[in-house]
Amino acid sequence: MSVHKEVKRVTTHIIQEMKNRGEKIAMLTAYDYSMAAIVDEAGVDIILVGDSASNVMAGHETTLPITLDQMIYHASSVVRAAKRALVIVDLPFGSYQGNSKEALNSAIRIMKESGAHGVKLEGGLEIAESVSRILAAGIPVMGHLGLTPQSIYKFGTYTVRAKEEAEAQKLRDDAAKLQELGCFGVVLEKIPAALAKEVSESIAIPTIGIGAGQHCDGQVLVIHDMLGINKGFTPRFLRQYANLHYIMNTAISGYVNDVKAKDFPNEKEQY
Ligand code: KIV
Repeated sequence: MSVHKEVKRVTTHIIQEMKNRGEKIAMLTAYDYSMAAIVDEAGVDIILVGDSASNVMAGHETTLPITLDQMIYHASSVVRAAKRALVIVDLPFGSYQGNSKEALNSAIRIMKESGAHGVKLEGGLEIAESVSRILAAGIPVMGHLGLTPQSIYKFGTYTVRAKEEAEAQKLRDDAAKLQELGCFGVVLEKIPAALAKEVSESIAIPTIGIGAGQHCDGQVLVIHDMLGINKGFTPRFLRQYANLHYIMNTAISGYVNDVKAKDFPNEKEQY
């Protein structure tokens, strides 16, 4: 008799229940099939196909250049691997800021062509109409406030946001608005821990922090950063769980040496 173990898919409802019972939510990025399979198997609740793919997969300086087609390619690879995790995909820069119809069309393309379970958009009040329209089509939406990397040229730096009261108040208002519209969660990026705590306690939907302290309802990191694949990226908020750069470099230079020394393949490794 074969024992088939059912894997229960994480849904936006389960994510909400996790906040309600005080269970922290673990979110990580992934952009390809092999990495997403490992992330999923390790028990991550939400896989974010982030537009950080523009940085870590394509080598761009910012998230701005990645296209909707490229995001769909990454997302469909991740969806094929994710058996348990909820898969959320970033709407890339330029695919939703024009108007709400364009935003809806972009979200529909992501859902239809990748099979993902929801989308994430950066911004608050200014994108309310787009968020409403996407939600009205039955597509789950996650918000993203604080340091929103698609606005890097407006900010000028990647330093902590909302330290001043006016920006903190806008963030509080934006979080409340995203909840009112029907978002299932909101990412809070690089804001003071005290503000993230206040927002997390004032809204019922889960907050997922990155550089926003321990009181968020969940945490997210970019997989390349937490595995130490990127050399020299060591912001204060980042905990590195491995040094894959060193491990991979050692393995690959070992291979190069073996080939040069005519030691690979040996007699047992050939036909
Ligand atoms: O694109 C991304 O990886 C993100 C996370 C940093 C939240 O938006």
